[in-house]
Amino acid sequence: MKHFTSIEKMSNTEVLGLIKRAQEFKQGAVWQKPRAQIFASNLFFENSTRTHQSFAIAECKLGLEVLEFNAETSSLSKGESLYDTVLTLDALGVGVCVIRHSEDHYYEQLVQSPHIHLSIVNAGDGSGQHPSQCLLDLMTIQQEFGGFDGLNVAIVGDINHSRVARSNAQMLTRLGAKVTFSGPKEWFSAEEFSSYGEHWPIDKLVGEVDVMMLLRVQHERHNAAATFSKADYHQKYGLTVPRAERMKSGAIIMHPAPVNRDVELADALVEAAQSRIVKQMQNGVFARMAILEAVLS
Ligand code: CP
Repeated sequence: MKHFTSIEKMSNTEVLGLIKRAQEFKQGAVWQKPRAQIFASNLFFENSTRTHQSFAIAECKLGLEVLEFNAETSSLSKGESLYDTVLTLDALGVGVCVIRHSEDHYYEQLVQSPHIHLSIVNAGDGSGQHPSQCLLDLMTIQQEFGGFDGLNVAIVGDINHSRVARSNAQMLTRLGAKVTFSGPKEWFSAEEFSSYGEHWPIDKLVGEVDVMMLLRVQHERHNAAATFSKADYHQKYGLTVPRAERMKSGAIIMHPAPVNRDVELADALVEAAQSRIVKQMQNGVFARMAILEAVLS
């Protein structure tokens, strides 16, 4: 695997292999680097805490030389393009660029270029894909349930804007899970998502599912007039404490975070016993080690 850009481009075997390797890293496996010195550059053009820092930690744990990149102080501010920035880093000897960018499929031009030789890892493209989040989510679900076949997974919230929903709906369905969507109907494109699952009101599905995967309301991608008040959203579409009391025994709560507390998820549920949100963040480091090893080996 030269690049890691989209779950769509990967086979089930490749995805399950990466999860297995991530579990091995969690248990202390060590990577034998093919070269003494490999440089990794992290280019984040959209804000991030978890993805950015966990890639940086994964790179340190693998023994890579980590170069931080600040878009505001780089030559991007002089009009240099993303393509020319990556071409430059390639020329300098960087081995892997981890990139988050607001443009869907920004990576296509980079991976198709015969002049760029480094590996591209997609840390999220616009409303396109978030494949490393998908991998850590699958790892967390597998740790809990041992597999995916026959699992009922609800993906709830701002579906249309969510790269997490896109990657997870696709991959969970391919692995045999049953996906059901919920949230505001106007934030769900049946044309795009109905091939993965139906859209139900949250009160109908909350007692049926094994995984309640909440999504952040992406205020920054909405027209202000189109959004709900926080309290209104929480009551109509969120996982409230009374709704959580109706979840099946053994069912878990997931959220890619950052969480809007008391909007998509009640504040008291973020660290509750059935929540796996902190575990998702912990797994992120090991999932990203497996991804980096795969593209650099
Ligand atoms: N889950 C996620 O992508 O979080 P960050 O935006 O903080 O990286």
